[in-house]
Amino acid sequence: MKILKTISEVKEYIKPLKLKDQIIGFVPTMGALHDGHIALGEEARYECDCLIYSIFVNPTQFGPNEDLDKYPRDLDGDIAKLEAIDVDAVFIPDRSVIYPENYKTYVKVDELGNILCGKSRVDHFQGVTTVVSKLFNIVQCDEAYFGKKDIQQFIILKKMVEDLNMPVKMISVDTVREDDGLAKSSRNTYLSADERAAAPVLYRSMVTAKKNIDLYFSPEELIEDVHTMISMEPLAKIEYIELRRYNDLSEVEDLSEEGILLILAVRFGTTRLIDNMLLR
Ligand code: PAF
Repeated sequence: MKILKTISEVKEYIKPLKLKDQIIGFVPTMGALHDGHIALGEEARYECDCLIYSIFVNPTQFGPNEDLDKYPRDLDGDIAKLEAIDVDAVFIPDRSVIYPENYKTYVKVDELGNILCGKSRVDHFQGVTTVVSKLFNIVQCDEAYFGKKDIQQFIILKKMVEDLNMPVKMISVDTVREDDGLAKSSRNTYLSADERAAAPVLYRSMVTAKKNIDLYFSPEELIEDVHTMISMEPLAKIEYIELRRYNDLSEVEDLSEEGILLILAVRFGTTRLIDNMLLR
């Protein structure tokens, strides 16, 4: 597996691939790789001739009081995991490669970035769209793979690709879960033993809502029930529970609609977990 650190190294690496019209699949990550990240590459392998990952803990998507400094890092472990699934190349830029001194340009998708997670994480999605558009320009991928756990991120990035006419096919891959249903996430390592034991309440409440959707008269009633289920877990502090349409995250008015997404953010101690499930 090739380890690429600079933009010119990436350009040299992709030049012959582009000349041969090879399909480049790309998985952008912030490292601390888990099975969810690996599933993205495994899916990409079916479709692409060349598979490239990036590992970059992107400072512009963290707020001033967020976990940038303590975000889990395990570069040696990550490289071993990527080698094990035959990744062709990994781009591991330094901060100054992506954001050189006097960096001034940001990419922002209006509205979609201000709802759900964007309410408490101001500028988070602007950081994500900025870094991903830069990575797309550098790697010149044909296809890009993202996890469905971060569904708002995926929908925002898809809109960016559409609005900016980027020639990238956007693919979302199912969430990988622990045996008890907790969605795999690099941030799960922050949970104490008690918080880890409490966290699967998110999955259980979403499964129950999916099973019972026909019993509710209104979105509000369903949300209230999910709220009650999660609140029975004393360590869970709910930030939001919402129903949104899967294609564009607009608000659901009627439970008989197709493509209803239950989406939530809940804190366990200082750790904020997000998850979602398609109810129909
Ligand atoms: O989902 C992530 O890990 C990050 O938001 C991404 C897409 C790699 C951008 O930094």
